[in-house]
Amino acid sequence: MKTSIHIENKIRPKASRNGLKYHIKTFGCQMNEHDSEKIAGIFNNDGMTKSDDIDNADVLFVNTCTIRENADDKLYGTLGHLKKWKSLAPNRRLLVGGCAAQKDKELVRERAPWVDVVIGTHNTTEIINLLNQAEDWGPITEIIEETTDIETEIAAVRESSVSAFVTIQIGCNNSCTFCIVPSVRGIEISRRPSDIINEIKSLAHDGVKEITLLGQNVNSYGRDLMINNRRKPYFTELLYKIHDIDGIERIRFTSPHPKDFKIETLKAVADLPKVANQIHIPLQSGSNKILSSMHRGYNQKRFLEKVDLIKSLIPNVSISSDIIVGFPGENEDDFQQTMDVVNYAEFDLIFMFKFSPRPGTVAFDYVDQFVEKKVIDDRFMRLKVRQTEISEKRYKRYQNTKQTMLVEKVSKKDNNILTGRIEGGHIVHLESSSENIGKLLNVNIYDSTPFFLKATL
Ligand code: SAH
Ligand code: SF4
Ligand code: F3S
Repeated sequence: MKTSIHIENKIRPKASRNGLKYHIKTFGCQMNEHDSEKIAGIFNNDGMTKSDDIDNADVLFVNTCTIRENADDKLYGTLGHLKKWKSLAPNRRLLVGGCAAQKDKELVRERAPWVDVVIGTHNTTEIINLLNQAEDWGPITEIIEETTDIETEIAAVRESSVSAFVTIQIGCNNSCTFCIVPSVRGIEISRRPSDIINEIKSLAHDGVKEITLLGQNVNSYGRDLMINNRRKPYFTELLYKIHDIDGIERIRFTSPHPKDFKIETLKAVADLPKVANQIHIPLQSGSNKILSSMHRGYNQKRFLEKVDLIKSLIPNVSISSDIIVGFPGENEDDFQQTMDVVNYAEFDLIFMFKFSPRPGTVAFDYVDQFVEKKVIDDRFMRLKVRQTEISEKRYKRYQNTKQTMLVEKVSKKDNNILTGRIEGGHIVHLESSSENIGKLLNVNIYDSTPFFLKATL
């Protein structure tokens, strides 16, 4: 087991890959998306430029996810296709990183020997060193099992110039029995408040309007730091500090954990105009038996109390959630409990997942209680149908209202449509030309679907 060291002072030789192009393929969550932006920053520093077209790229980085089994399947399928990509030009380099690489380093090598560099989640700033070594000595794998520090950050090259992710914390100290994240992302480590604030100030200076604070359990942010001689969560204070930064118009955060949600944080969301009236609160299951077996640290009653509190403190709040269907031992009654919570809470949006056993997690060993696939499929469909009805109703409440929308980009499907979000996080399709990108606009919502709102200026 190797522990990462600060590599702040490691001076790299001058950019060595001037003129080469790189492409990044990202799977998984927002943390991975943002890690890819950091890798892009490192590649740019090395003289390379980004290519949106994989066929033009000399260097390809695949940032992997392993949250569910289908993420793994997708990865090995992709690596299979990439053998051809790699063989088309002798100097092409293929690099694989992220959570699946961290978990399955030998497997990635075994299944795809044509990969040049396999790198883990804790040593991404080493990527150019590893690429250099691979060019000198052949394929290399370097995974660090544990880290005690957040690596020094290189300026990320972000996808959007309007809305930016900002890491406030890495890793997770919880032990949800279904979840692989703690084993691939390590223990919870908070970034220093001054680093966060400085990064956001510089984003504001560059014209960024909206930031999304990222962490696996943001409410416990700061628990591991010594701040004013105390170790205690500092998330609410952080929100206040960020709110003071000129130029930032909207602040979002994800994900909070229901058990650690503090009333002060909710009051801050209500009090601070720039903090969006949107709360993501992952339910996972509505059944006390299942919640306990998931090791979530709350029961249905406590969860519903939080939902009530959120609704009573934050006017016109929009709430989203994550739900797992078919956790081992879930019977029809347990599933109905989940439906009851969904019906009561009326989330604007849920992310639904079928339980996927992850090797190395506690729930992987609940094999004698696994729910039959067709039962899971059936429950999943019923939940989906019900939630679509609820989302339809929740999105409809905006019809014929004026909302403030942050315009982010041109729609991929239609050049005459711009997309962005209102404060509640709902996606908006706006009929407008591209000069409005980056603006906070007052728009008229004239129609809605269960998935997005339609607007005109
Ligand atoms: N830290 C975040 C979750 C990160 S994973 C949080 O606690 O909210 C995102 C979501 O994936 C989880 O909320 C859960 O709903 C889902 N998930 C995680 N592991 C899973 C598994 N083994 N099977 C199915 N869904 C899973
Ligand atoms: Fe996984 Fe639970 Fe940590 Fe979220 S809080 S990352 S679900 S262990
Ligand atoms: Fe995210 Fe997937 Fe890793 S969900 S933390 S990229 S396992």
